[in-house]
Amino acid sequence: MTITFITGANKGLGYETARRLIAQGHTVLLGARDAKAGAAAAGELGARFVEIDVTDDTSVAAAAADVERHEGALDVLINNAGVHGPAGDPTTLTGADVLGVLDVNVAGVVRATTAFLPLLQRSADPVVVNVSSAMGSLEATHDPARPESHYVAPVYTASKAALTMLTTQYAKALPGIRINAADPGYTATDLNGNSGPQTVTEGTDAIVALATEGPGHGSGRFVDREREIVWS
Ligand SMILES: NC(=O)c1ccc[n+]([C@@H]2O[C@H](COP(=O)([O-])OP(=O)(O)OC[C@H]3O[C@@H](n4cnc5c(N)ncnc54)[C@H](OP(=O)(O)O)[C@@H]3O)[C@@H](O)[C@H]2O)c1
Repeated sequence: MTITFITGANKGLGYETARRLIAQGHTVLLGARDAKAGAAAAGELGARFVEIDVTDDTSVAAAAADVERHEGALDVLINNAGVHGPAGDPTTLTGADVLGVLDVNVAGVVRATTAFLPLLQRSADPVVVNVSSAMGSLEATHDPARPESHYVAPVYTASKAALTMLTTQYAKALPGIRINAADPGYTATDLNGNSGPQTVTEGTDAIVALATEGPGHGSGRFVDREREIVWS
C-alpha cells in the first residue's frame, strides 16, 4: 500500500489528486491548514485528515509526527499547497507581498520536505512531487503561443521559478529519492477565480503520473500533462 501525503488538499488540484490516488489504491493523508475543511474533504474521499499549515514550523513538525505515529513511513509527498498573491502592476508591490507568497510556495515546500524526509527514507521507493507551474518557466512566459506569456504576476511566477529550481537541486542532492516538479496547466480553481480552461482532472494528470510512475524514472524533471518541459 502506497502512503501519500498531499498538502493543501481540501480543495482544487490537491483534492482531485487525493480522489484519483485513492481510486488507484493509495492510502492518502489529506493535509489542510483549515481543520474543518480538511476533515470534511477527507471524510468525502475516504482519506485521513492531517492538519498542516506549511508556513508554520510547529504545524509542519506536528503533521510529520502524526504520520510517524500512525503510518510510520511515507512513500509519496506531494507539495501542492500554494497561493497566488498580487498580479498585474508591480509598482505598488511590497516586500511583505513577496515574502507572503514565497513563505507558502517555496519555504513551505522546504519545511514540509525537511520534516517528512526521515519518513520518506523508510520507503522502498520514495517520491516527492512539487506542484510548480509553467508560469515559472522562462520558455513558456516568452512564447507568444502560450497563455503564460500574456499574463503578469511577478511574485507568483518568481515563486514557481524558484520552486522548479529547488526541485532540481533537491534531486541532485538526494539521489535516493525521485523528486520532480509538475506543471498542472491553467486549470479552473479558486487560485485563478475558476478562470482556467482545464478541468481539475486534466490539471492533475501530471501530478498523478509523477506520483504513480514507479521505480526507474528520472529525478529532477519538470513535467506537464503532455511532455517533459525543456530547461531554459
Ligand atoms: N490552478 C492552476 O491553474 C494552477 C496552475 C499551475 C500550478 N498550480 C498550483 O497548483 C497548486 C494547487 O493550487 P489550486 O489551483 O488547486 O488552488 P486552490 O484551489 O486555491 O488550492 C490551494 C490549496 O493550498 C492551500 N494552502 C494555501 N496556503 C496554505 C498554507 N499556508 N498551508 C497549507 N495549505 C495552504 C489552500 O488551503 P485553504 O483552502 O485553507 O486556503 C488550498 O487547499 C498550487 O501550488 C498552485 O500554484 C495551479
